[in-house]
Amino acid sequence: MFFRKYCDIIKAVINMKFGIICVSDRCFNGEKEDMSGPAIAECVKELSTENEYRLVPDEKEMIENAITELADKSGADVVFTTGGTGFAPRDITPEATKAVIEKEVPGISEAIRAKSLEITDRAMLSRAVSGIRGKTLIINLPGSPKAVRESIEVVLPVLEHAVETISGNTQNCGGNYGK
Ligand code: MTE
Repeated sequence: MFFRKYCDIIKAVINMKFGIICVSDRCFNGEKEDMSGPAIAECVKELSTENEYRLVPDEKEMIENAITELADKSGADVVFTTGGTGFAPRDITPEATKAVIEKEVPGISEAIRAKSLEITDRAMLSRAVSGIRGKTLIINLPGSPKAVRESIEVVLPVLEHAVETISGNTQNCGGNYGK
C-alpha cells in the first residue's frame, strides 16, 4: 500500500502519461487530418515520453469509451480531448465527459475560458469541462491547433501539482509558488 502510493508520487513528479482524444466526425471519416492532437502532444512533450492517442467521431458513447479506456486501462495521468465543445448540433464532448467523471474541476475550464477571452470573444462559445475519474484528470479543449496551444498554456503550470494531488501527495500544497 505504502509502496504503491510512493510509486504514484514518484511517477507524478518524474513523468506523466497523457491520453489524447481527437473528437471529430470529419477527421474520423478521413476528410480532414487531425492537427489538434499532434499540437497537444507537442505542447506536453517536456512533461512526458508516453502518449496514447484515440480518434473518435462526435458520438457520445464512443467518446465515453475512449476516455474510460485511457483512464482505467491505460492509466493516463491526464486525458486531453480536443473538439466537439461548441454549439454545433453534433458537439457532445462535454456531455460525454460529464457522464464519466466522478468529480468536476470547474476551475480549469474557467481559467482556460478566462485567458482565452483575452485572445478571442469566441472563447465563450466553448462549453468545455474538466474533471477527475479515478486518478486521471480529464480536460476538454476546443478543436483547433491554435485553441489547443492557447488553452494548454493556461493549464501547464498547474499540471504537475494537479497530478501529484490526485495521487494523494498533498505535501506541496500551501507553499508559495508564485502565481
Ligand atoms: N479558445 C481559444 N483559446 N482560441 C480559439 O481560437 N475558438 C473558439 C472556442 N474557444 C477558440 C477558443 C471557437 S471559434 C469555438 S466554436 C469554440 O471554442 C468551440 O470549439 P470546438 O467546437 O472546436 O470545440
